[in-house]
Amino acid sequence: MTSPTPDKITINGERLWQSLMDLADIGGYDDERTGLRGVNRLALTDTDATGRRQVIAWMEQAGLTVRIDRMGNIYGRREGADPTAAPVLTGSHIDSVATAGAFDGCLGVLGGIEVVRILNERGITTRRPVEVGIFTEEEGVRFGTDMLGSAVAAGRLTLEYAHALTDRDGLTLGGELARTGFNGLADVRLDSPHAYVECHIEQGPVLAENGVEIGVVTGVQGISWQEITIHGRAAHAGTTPTHLRIDAGLAAAQIIVHLQALVDSGEYGDLRATVGHLIVHPDLTNIVPARAELTVDLRNPDDVQMARAEEALAAFLRDLEDSRPGLSLTVRRMAKTAYVPFDEGLQKVIAQAADDHGLDHISLLSGAGHDAQEIAVLCPTAMIFVRGEYDGISHNPREYSTPEACAHGVDVLATTLLRLANQD
Ligand code: GLV
Ligand code: MN
Ligand code: MN
Repeated sequence: MTSPTPDKITINGERLWQSLMDLADIGGYDDERTGLRGVNRLALTDTDATGRRQVIAWMEQAGLTVRIDRMGNIYGRREGADPTAAPVLTGSHIDSVATAGAFDGCLGVLGGIEVVRILNERGITTRRPVEVGIFTEEEGVRFGTDMLGSAVAAGRLTLEYAHALTDRDGLTLGGELARTGFNGLADVRLDSPHAYVECHIEQGPVLAENGVEIGVVTGVQGISWQEITIHGRAAHAGTTPTHLRIDAGLAAAQIIVHLQALVDSGEYGDLRATVGHLIVHPDLTNIVPARAELTVDLRNPDDVQMARAEEALAAFLRDLEDSRPGLSLTVRRMAKTAYVPFDEGLQKVIAQAADDHGLDHISLLSGAGHDAQEIAVLCPTAMIFVRGEYDGISHNPREYSTPEACAHGVDVLATTLLRLANQD
């Protein structure tokens, strides 16, 4: 006699935590500024490759059949009673920024594997297959475009575009895929899953401020990344009078201050602006900079306001160029994604699962970019957010969610996946 299929499952929080800590050792470093252990696992570096091999081993130990596509995206599949039914997909990324913590992306991937382990232990066969995905270069900090693997899998960006991208040393993504052995053979275009659900740390303060454990994510705000190169003229710092200088460093500083003025004006909705990369050449104390390179990261939940902010920046750059004969600017688009709303029906399934686990939840918009926003064009998609400590700080070794918070988020993931995988 077979026992009735359960409708709610609880994961093994200790095992989940151990896998998070084990993966964080790969690329772990002692961070001088915080005195904490950080994680540096940039996409398709040797450390990322080691991390990938470790996670593949865990997938295989959990009985998943692993395939790797031409973007190096990795999928582990647990067969369902009906192997012809579209799978329920979960996952995230394991590449990191250079100053990361243990949780960003990894919680979604290792949480997905933990759900599979529990399904195995409980002897549960779902109607639909369940797949766990690991997407390449979600962070975008090595090759310059974020959500790259999932964007190609979903068809928004081409494989050729992605393979030709270069890092700061001129190495191509295609070359690094081959070097690390992750240039897989599987088709990169993903067949539409039945649904996609991603569990991720919130990376912000909202859940803690509201005193709740779980966030049901309504969507992701728009993201605009541009690289600006300013060409001036190198000159002697002591002898060159102001009126003879063409100072690329000064122009870079003016751009940064102007971006903050756009934010502070309140005229562009809920705009956020960051210059996270700035370098001057030749980078020497007594030389007026001949060249400056900076990146601009804009976020906005409203696409119209985002377009207005981009236009305001473009107008400022034109005026800046005109203000100084000899000064010239070039702008390169790195990445651009619109506001993406998530599926309302799926948000209800997640909220119900949280209720059934006795966990308080609120709905919120994601401030960060996620692979889910790309997969959303293929199938109903939504996300589960887990509360972070210390104002939800992230992209910093201080990033921390408690073992209980992680387990609660993956409990909600487990029950949500189980229910979706048993849908017709
Ligand atoms: C992803 O981490 C982002 O930059 O939002
Ligand atoms: Mn992430
Ligand atoms: Mn991140």
